[in-house]
Amino acid sequence: MTARDASVYRCQECGFASPKPGTCPDCRRAGGSWVQLVEERPRASRTTRRAGAPAARPRPLKDISMERDDRVRTGIGELDRVLGGGVVRGSLVLIGGDPGVGKSTLLLQAARALAQVAPPVLYVTAEESAAQVKMRADRLGISTDGLLLWPETDLSVVQAQLDAVKPRGLIIDSIQTVFLPELESAPGSVTQVRECGARLMTLAKGLGIATFLVGHVTKEGALAGPRVLEHLVDTVLYFEGERHHAYRVLRAVKNRFGSTNEIGVFEMAEGGLVEVKNPSGFFLAERPAEAPGSVVVSSLEGTRPVLLELQALVAQAAVGTPRRTVLGADYNRVCLLLAVLEKRAGVPLGSQDVFVNVAGGGRVTEPAADLGIVVAAASSYMDRAVPGDVLVVGEVGLTGEVRAVAGLELRLREAAALGFRRAIVPQSNVLEPTKASLDVRGVATVAEALAALLG
Ligand code: TYD
Ligand code: MG
Repeated sequence: MTARDASVYRCQECGFASPKPGTCPDCRRAGGSWVQLVEERPRASRTTRRAGAPAARPRPLKDISMERDDRVRTGIGELDRVLGGGVVRGSLVLIGGDPGVGKSTLLLQAARALAQVAPPVLYVTAEESAAQVKMRADRLGISTDGLLLWPETDLSVVQAQLDAVKPRGLIIDSIQTVFLPELESAPGSVTQVRECGARLMTLAKGLGIATFLVGHVTKEGALAGPRVLEHLVDTVLYFEGERHHAYRVLRAVKNRFGSTNEIGVFEMAEGGLVEVKNPSGFFLAERPAEAPGSVVVSSLEGTRPVLLELQALVAQAAVGTPRRTVLGADYNRVCLLLAVLEKRAGVPLGSQDVFVNVAGGGRVTEPAADLGIVVAAASSYMDRAVPGDVLVVGEVGLTGEVRAVAGLELRLREAAALGFRRAIVPQSNVLEPTKASLDVRGVATVAEALAALLG
C-alpha cells in the first residue's frame, strides 16, 4: 500500500488530520476536550477540477467588469441589510443557529421573496419531508409559483438536476444532512460537510446561483463540523434568540460583500417571522413607569442604535455568599461593575443578592451599557426610581471614572426619536454639542451620575 491510498484519521471538530489513530492534539492544546480522530478512507478517484467550474485565466484588473444587477434584494429588508444590501449572485451564504430558532422559517420566507424577483428558487429539504415543509408554507401563507420544493439528501442528484431546473436561488436545509455518495464518511462528518460545501461553492460560482446553507450549532456555540465551512463560504450569518422569547437577531460574522456590523431583528409570530423595523420600541414596549432598578441603555449594533431596558434587583441575601445572577450581559463584567459601585460610590452590596436582566430577551455586549448597569443596581438598592425619560450611556473604569463611548450622536438621536428628554453621558463626550433635542448632561464619575439621577 502506498502512502497515497492509506487512510487518514481526522478530527471531526477542527479537521486536523493524522496518519495514526488517536485523539486530536490541536483541540486538546486549545483547552478543549479529548476528541477521538475518525478514520477516513481515500477516495477511489479524484479529478483535479471540480465539475461545473469554468476555466479562468489571469486577466488585467482594469479589464474585469462587474455586472450591475449582481445583487438581488430578497424583499425582506432586515435580511437584505445584514447581507449588505441584498444577496449576491453566485455567492454562498451559511446561516447558523440553534435547532428551533427559526432558520427554516427564515429561509422559506426568503425563498418566497426571492422567487418573486428571481425565479425559480429550489428549496432542497434534506431534514424534513415535503409534507412537513408544505405544512409550514401553508402556515406562512406561501404559495409562490417559482418556488420548487425537493426532499433530497444526495447532493450529486441535486447537482445533476441543476442544469435542467436552472434555479437562480438554491437553499440547502441543512448542510449536515446532505451527502456525496463517493465519500465513505457519514453525513454531518467534517469530510462530508467540507466536501459538500466545496461542491456547492463551485456550483454557486459556476452557475451564478445565490445559495443559502443551513448549519446547526452545537451546545458549545460552534457550527458543528461546519467550522471548516466558515473559511470557505462568502458570508456567515448567525440567527440568535432565546427559545421562549419572540425576538430573533440575525447577525453577520463574516461577509465578503458587506459589513459585519449590521444586525437584522425579527419577531417570531403566529404567521412566521415578522421584521422589527423599530427594535428600540419593541424592547421598551412593556417598560414599567418609573420602577426602581429599571434603566434604559443604548447598544450600538453596527450603525444602528438599539435602546434596551436593563433591570436590576438587589435584595438582602440569606446566610452565606450572596448570589449574582446575570441574564443578557457578561457575568464577569457585571461583577466588576458591582465592585466599582461598592468601592467608589459607597453602595454596600457585600451582603446583597444581585440579579441583572435585559428585558425582552435582549443582550448588551458593549461597555457603553456599564453606567446603566451600575445605576440600575444602585437604584434598586436605594429603592429609588430613575426618571423614565432618561437615557444612560457610558463606559465605567475601575477607578469609578465614566469613559467616552463611540457613536454618541446616533444614540442620542434614537432616544430623542423615541420620546426621551434627557441623557446622562460621559463628560469627555460632550465637548461637541448634540443636534438631538435632548437635555444632555455630562458626568465624569459614577458618584456624579448617581447624584444626578438618584439624588
Ligand atoms: P424552524 O424554522 O423549524 O427552526 P429551525 O429550522 O431553526 O430548526 O422553526 C422553529 C420554531 O418556530 C418552531 O418551534 C415553531 C416556531 N414557529 C412559529 O412560532 N411560527 C411560525 O409561523 C413558524 C413557521 C414556526
Ligand atoms: Mg429547520
